[in-house]
Amino acid sequence: MPEDAVLAAAADSVASLALAGLRARPKTLPARLFYDDAGCRLFYRITELPEYYLTRTELALLAQVAAEVAAMLPAPALLVEYGASDETKAGFLLDQRRGGVPVFAAYVPIDVAAPALDALQGRLARARPELRVWPVAADFLAPIALPLGGGERARLGFFPGSTIGNLDPAQARLFLAGVRRALGPGGRLLVGVDLRKDPAILLPAYDDAAGVTAAFNRNLLVRLNREAGATFDPLAFDHRALWNAEEGRIEMHLVSRRPQAVTVAGEIVRFAAGEMIHTENSYKHSLSGFAGLAAAGGWRTERVWTDPAGLFSVHLLGG
Ligand code: TRP
Repeated sequence: MPEDAVLAAAADSVASLALAGLRARPKTLPARLFYDDAGCRLFYRITELPEYYLTRTELALLAQVAAEVAAMLPAPALLVEYGASDETKAGFLLDQRRGGVPVFAAYVPIDVAAPALDALQGRLARARPELRVWPVAADFLAPIALPLGGGERARLGFFPGSTIGNLDPAQARLFLAGVRRALGPGGRLLVGVDLRKDPAILLPAYDDAAGVTAAFNRNLLVRLNREAGATFDPLAFDHRALWNAEEGRIEMHLVSRRPQAVTVAGEIVRFAAGEMIHTENSYKHSLSGFAGLAAAGGWRTERVWTDPAGLFSVHLLGG
């Protein structure tokens, strides 16, 4: 395919993904559209916000957990990370050594953002030249054929960031079962899971004072203007984070400030004043609730770690 045809095909799929969501009632936009270059940069800023306790709490937990997890694995081992936009979190595991050699000999980072994977591969080639790196540019929800058979004696899946919370329980169960199948007998999975807590702590994490999460949410509309021939005025939509107690999830929405009509890829989409576009869910689990989900996905919980304040958890699942 000539390059402009490739670009046209890509643009087409952003437009068709967006239109499918905007034709639905209530209107939605798929969360995977968040992660263009600007969206990846905004997301990185979210992880550094004072209100966003998730990333720093998980990093502190991983610093403590990595040695214990590595000690349970026969070496050499393979690490497979689902949603690997950078190698910071995996680094805690990749640092682990036994008898002077790294426990992990090979690393498979899986992510939809191909440019981020290229950058990661370049950095690892310099920082860890002995590590075999096999990047996979794909949606981690798709079935992925892993490069098994490289002589590793153990396989550890890694799914940090409470990304599992962005899947609804049915999707999460299917994902967990798919990973179990992909890693095969003896495989283990280390998952970061944000815990259910007072909405007074949860809500600011998704609606920060500096407005970075609002900009991240509105960037969806900016992206559709650029890639799907849309005519959104991003500031005509408010960012709103809600705690849905019944479903146990934070919801992110964009709320139309007034009645308006927007064109998306030639189609007119109308909004009433106050009408919402649902853009993201972030499910918050209890420890027992997550153990149940893991069991439904075919896993046995081997160990669970939480931070002293009980904000976040890391679960080691096995066969
Ligand atoms: N999984 C993380 C969470 O739910 C990160 C995340 C995904 C996120 N989409 C988001 C954070 C949207 C803020 C806004 O918190």
